[in-house]
Amino acid sequence: MSRRRRIYEGKAKTLFEGPEPGTIVQYFKDDATAFNNQKKGTITGKGVINNRISEFLMTKLGEIGVPTHFIRRLNMREQLIRQVEIIPLEVVVRNVAAGSFAKRFGLEEGTQLPRSIMEFFYKNDTLGDPMVTEEHITAFGWASPQDLDDIVALTLRINDFLFGLFLGCGIKLIDFKIEFGRLYEDDMVRIVLADEISPDSCRLWDLRTNEKLDKDRFRRDLGKVEEAYQEVARRLGILIDQG
Ligand code: C5P
Repeated sequence: MSRRRRIYEGKAKTLFEGPEPGTIVQYFKDDATAFNNQKKGTITGKGVINNRISEFLMTKLGEIGVPTHFIRRLNMREQLIRQVEIIPLEVVVRNVAAGSFAKRFGLEEGTQLPRSIMEFFYKNDTLGDPMVTEEHITAFGWASPQDLDDIVALTLRINDFLFGLFLGCGIKLIDFKIEFGRLYEDDMVRIVLADEISPDSCRLWDLRTNEKLDKDRFRRDLGKVEEAYQEVARRLGILIDQG
């Protein structure tokens, strides 16, 4: 069935041309990859859950004034988003040491950081997403100094908001990755939050037990991956009808 034009096929999502100019349909797949594509698998129902969790979080962020690409959810696996020019950066915020950060600095996972730390990675699969500084970002022109100011300010707000939101659900937001895009609208260009926010892109630990409720369950073969994603949705108060 050829319905519409496919624009981009990512690891966990596919983008299709949207119904109106300037819109895109973002389709959430069950496919999961880790370690720069070296590990591949499927998490049954993940696409459905991530579509709902990302809708929920983007909507909440929109309500506090963070501009996002999100327009509305269309169905179980698809959402309508605004077409943006993706800035080739992965913006990571760390509240607690884990993953590559813990390894890089020889810290035990779970070590509380003295303050939230923001890091930037250049989105490039061939190079393995190298870490970059603001110097690289502006020198190579991936973002202007003004873009970068907006990205930093928005990222700090997003972290503050999400940290509190998850805490209220008994979840510790250990770290997360977000992406931004340029939205061209009415002769103006603005930086907006793009991509997704879900257990694929966040580390979420149970506040009491430190149980992992995120993609590390897949990366580290801990089992019960789908159950963990469902638990995050349940705690956020999202009701998912799989039918
Ligand atoms: O692997 P690392 O510790 O650097 O990951 C930091 C955070 O960014 C984690 O929440 C991880 O899920 C997320 N991340 C991501 N996509 C990547 C790399 C990291 O969502 N390509």
